[in-house]
Amino acid sequence: MSVSKLHIRTFGCQMNEYDSSKMIDVLKNSHNLSLTDNATDADVLLLNTCSIREKAQEKLFHQLGRWRKFKEKNPNIVIGVGGCVASQEGEMILDRAPYVDIIFGPQTLHRLPNMLNDALNSREVSIDVSFPEIEKFDHLPEPKSNGVTAFVSIMEGCSKYCTFCVVPYTRGEEVSRPLNDVVEEVTILASQGVREVNLLGQNVNSYRGLTDDGLDTDLALLINIVSQIDGIDRIRFTTSHPVEFSDSLINAYNDVPELVSHLHLPIQSGSDRILSLMKRGHTALEYKSKIRRLRKIRPNISISSDFIIGFPGENDEDFNDTLNLINEINFDKSFSFIYSSRPGTPASSYPDDVELNIKKQRLALVQKTIDESTESISKSMIGSIQKVLVESKARKDDNLYGRTENMRNTHFRGSDNLIGKIVDIKILNARGNSLIGELVN
Ligand code: SAH
Ligand code: F3S
Repeated sequence: MSVSKLHIRTFGCQMNEYDSSKMIDVLKNSHNLSLTDNATDADVLLLNTCSIREKAQEKLFHQLGRWRKFKEKNPNIVIGVGGCVASQEGEMILDRAPYVDIIFGPQTLHRLPNMLNDALNSREVSIDVSFPEIEKFDHLPEPKSNGVTAFVSIMEGCSKYCTFCVVPYTRGEEVSRPLNDVVEEVTILASQGVREVNLLGQNVNSYRGLTDDGLDTDLALLINIVSQIDGIDRIRFTTSHPVEFSDSLINAYNDVPELVSHLHLPIQSGSDRILSLMKRGHTALEYKSKIRRLRKIRPNISISSDFIIGFPGENDEDFNDTLNLINEINFDKSFSFIYSSRPGTPASSYPDDVELNIKKQRLALVQKTIDESTESISKSMIGSIQKVLVESKARKDDNLYGRTENMRNTHFRGSDNLIGKIVDIKILNARGNSLIGELVN
């Protein structure tokens, strides 16, 4: 039996988006599958799942329920489930969805071609959710960009074991890609027109890729080397942990102008008591002191964070510490989530004792506070001249679209040949996360 069209739905983080793009690449290569946005057209349906919070997990079975109807009409359709729920649940997914054909984890997506063959030939369920170290990257086709920015995975997994988090269990422990593999991938992307790379991993500042001579490197050195690749004008990295936000990394903000003045450094809570229950390994003061040193080098750097609201035991005082910290740091656009107990994590044995309506009130207050500071940062940019990487034509009008270093969507008039260039834009107006500006010269 032959298959020709692939449809993928992706839930969760940027890492999952990245993995989905690699699934498309491998199946294009092996089975000449073409991508369709329309699930009803597809013969192969893949779901890339997320298990970071409860809701993310429920979405899986909702979606599978819909796809089941397609399969009742056409039994030849192949349905696959990948990502972190697949990794955690494995064949238990079949208890609720016995019509699934393939179950694969974040580290085995390169084995999809064989798994698809098995499903097509024998119609038996094919399951592989193992962690074969970093083998995945050795089996992926050459990267292809479709724009001026690209993600490049530099490490997989996480060994921090924050007490609330499933990632170490679903993606495995930290493994870094060798330095030259990363450099080679960025070089290829740059030759295809990529100007901005986002170095990706669950905890990128623990990056320890080896050189060809077997020497250790760190993220700061990698950033230095990537900045020297022809065509690379901007470097971002996602995401990092405060403990390993080292002096060498802080110094990279001094040495590497390509490193953007925007940093996502999740703190989760402003209360030392809660930080310790989360096993984050640092205090609020230690976090603030790193930010202070960074702002000495880059006074205007924009800082964003993730926050967990209503962690077990969080009282009014703990919550106020979080609010005060948000005001003190003046965080830019950030993410906040109500705590969700995850099976198998240490925190799942702590009593989840904050009432739901209190959690909701606290979440609303945090989000309002962050929205206000985001808005005031945007407003403070009016009149300034910003470096904008021009990405494309705007969707709705004749304008060009690009982003500032602190990720503001920016619209302005200009000719198409500016796409792919960094231009100076004077900001005229600001609303929420969007700016309107005009070209300077
Ligand atoms: N190192 C990754 C962490 C991935 S999880 C990163 O920093 O991006 C992304 C965010 O999800 C975390 O920073 C945390 O704020 C949130 N999160 C993780 N586990 C959670 C849980 N059990 N409940 C609520 N939010 C959670
Ligand atoms: Fe999760 Fe903590 Fe790692 S949030 S991804 S265990 S740094």
